[in-house]
Amino acid sequence: MSEDKPKKSSSKKTRNSEKCEFGALEDSALQNVHAQLMREKHEPTEKESPVPMFLIFLFAGMMFWAGGYLTRYSGNFRGDVFDPNWQPGGGAVKEEKPWDPVEEGRKLFAKNCQVCHQPTGLGVPGAYPPLVDSEWVTGDDTRIAKALLLGMSGPITVKGKQYNNTMPPFKRFSDQKLAAIMSYIRQAWGNKAPIVEEETVTKAREAIGSRSKPWSPAELLKEHPF
Ligand code: HEC
Repeated sequence: MSEDKPKKSSSKKTRNSEKCEFGALEDSALQNVHAQLMREKHEPTEKESPVPMFLIFLFAGMMFWAGGYLTRYSGNFRGDVFDPNWQPGGGAVKEEKPWDPVEEGRKLFAKNCQVCHQPTGLGVPGAYPPLVDSEWVTGDDTRIAKALLLGMSGPITVKGKQYNNTMPPFKRFSDQKLAAIMSYIRQAWGNKAPIVEEETVTKAREAIGSRSKPWSPAELLKEHPF
């Protein structure tokens, strides 16, 4: 067979050239040409070809670089990274303030006491006694605690002046708040008495027990004389 082929083809060639330069090829010649074409063509590929290996490495390399870049220059993605007032250690986060009795007392006083005793602590002559430099304020803290818990009614002498009026009770306030108010009035307006411990108020409340009747100043002074 193989010996026959060249013979055949040569005979074909002559025949073809005899006929026409662009004439049809014989079947076997056609097959030969096809076989040649098939050989020279690329391998058939599937529709979705896998990602080339070099691309995978390229992307991996780029992601590694980007990760490093962001770690270094992203500023941890903080919104305040360009804030000139930024403080290390989270300056933006507000720290919770510790309980400051005098400061808390100032607010409570403004809400609950200054209508009568006035923001100046000077009271109203003839009606409300002053707290500034008052021996009641700067004296025994248990005495004021009791006075505030139940209120007072009746004649009272403050800084040599007589008053006879009524102060409402503040029993509903917590020991902590009452201690804060007392601490404030003992330190405001130039008063210089030490602050009052919460425990003092707790003890005063216990001593009062179930009593709800306001004190007369004279009665309270009997228990806690100057
Ligand atoms: C409604 C008015 C009124 C309010 C509110 C009031 N007080 Fe008084 N306070 C008086 C009167 C009136 C007296 C005198 C009581 C008397 O005449 O027996 C007095 C007496 C006092 C005294 C003893 C006398 C002195 O001047 O030192 C202190 C201390 C005091 N008050 C503190 C307070 C504090 C603290 C508050 C707020 C928690 C307060 N008061 C709220 C009317 C008031």
